[in-house]
Amino acid sequence: MKLFTVGPVACYPEVLEEMKHQMFSHRSEEYKKLHRETVELLQKFLETENEVFLFPSSGTGVMEASVRNCVHRKMLCCVNGSFGERFVQVAIANGKEVEVLRTPLGEPTMPDILDEMLSKHPDVEAVAITHNETSVGLINPLEKLAEVVKSHGKLLFVDAVSSMGGVEIKVDKWGIDVCFSSSQKCFGVPPGLAVGSVSKEALKKSETVKNKGWYFDFKLYEKYQKNAGTPTTPPIPQIFGLNKILKLIEEWGGKHKYFELYRERNRRIRMGVERLGLTLFPKKGYESPTVSCINAPEGVSGIEIYERMRKKGFELAKGYGEVKEKTFRIGNMGYIEFKDIDLMLEALKGVLEEISK
Ligand SMILES: Cc1ncc(COP(=O)(O)O)c(C=O)c1O
Repeated sequence: MKLFTVGPVACYPEVLEEMKHQMFSHRSEEYKKLHRETVELLQKFLETENEVFLFPSSGTGVMEASVRNCVHRKMLCCVNGSFGERFVQVAIANGKEVEVLRTPLGEPTMPDILDEMLSKHPDVEAVAITHNETSVGLINPLEKLAEVVKSHGKLLFVDAVSSMGGVEIKVDKWGIDVCFSSSQKCFGVPPGLAVGSVSKEALKKSETVKNKGWYFDFKLYEKYQKNAGTPTTPPIPQIFGLNKILKLIEEWGGKHKYFELYRERNRRIRMGVERLGLTLFPKKGYESPTVSCINAPEGVSGIEIYERMRKKGFELAKGYGEVKEKTFRIGNMGYIEFKDIDLMLEALKGVLEEISK
C-alpha cells in the first residue's frame, strides 16, 4: 500500500533502520547524547533558543500541557476546523474559560478579526492557533497572526502538528510561546513522540498556575532537561528516528530544500487533481502545503473515493468532521516519491471514470 495519509505517514527507510537500535537506559550517557543532540537539531530547525522538550505522547498531550501550564482562567481559541475545536474541548475539560474565534469552514483566521477580538476581550491570557488545520487542508497566516497576538501582549500557543517540519516556523522571531508537533506527520517518524518549544514567559507562567498536574508539568521538564533527560521514560526509538530525519534534512541541503520538496509534491498533487476536474475545499491562497482537501464530485461520497483508491493500493485519507462525506484528503508528508504521485493520480483518474459509469 502506498501512503498518502495525513498521519501516521510513511517513513523513510533510513529512519526505520535507525529505530532498530538496541535500547539503553534513559539515564545513561548514551541517552543523554541522543537527547541533547536531538534537542539542538530541533532548536536549529525552529530557529529558537527556547527550551524544546521531548514528550512521551502524541501532539494532543502538549496541547493539553500548554493549557494546564500557562492559563489561570481564560484563553482564546481560533477555530478553523476539527483540531481547533479540539483545543477548545481540551481547555474546557481543564476548567478554563474559552472565547472562540470561529471562521466559516475552509476560511482562515484573519489578523484584523483577531485584533478586534483581542481588543474586545482583554482578559484572555493566551491565544491558540492551529497553524495547519488538517481536517480541511487549510493553512493560516501564522506570522501575521502572531504579530497581532504579541501586540496585545498575550501568550501564543501554536498547534503545528501538521506543519512543523514541512513549512517554515520561526519560533523566536514570531514570538511563539508554545509550539508543538507530533512525530508522525511532517517529520515522517512513527507515532509516540511529541515535541514542543516552550518560551521563558511560558515557563514563568507555569510557576504560578495551580492544578497543572504532574505528568506534563513544564517546570519538571525544564529541570530534567538540564541533565539531558525527561521526567519519565521517553520513546527512545522515535527519538532515534527524529534525530535521523533531522540529520538527513541537513544532508539533503537544509530545511528550505525540504520545504521546497513538500511544496513540489503538493503542487504536483494539486495540479493533478485539478486536471481531473476536481477542486480544492479551502479558500484560494490558503491551501495547505502538506495536505490537500479535495471536494468530491457532485453526488459522490469522498469515502467511496477513499475506499476505491485503497483497492488500487493507495491509502489516501477520508474527509474529517463536518466535511467527512463531501471531501477526501491527500497528504504529502513523510516518505513519498514523485513517481508514486504520478501513479496515485493515474489510479484516481481510473476511480473517477469507474464512478461516473
Ligand atoms: C492539526 C492537528 N492538531 C492535532 C492533532 C492531534 O495530534 P495527535 O494525534 O498527535 O495527538 C492532529 C492530528 O491529526 C492534527 O492534524
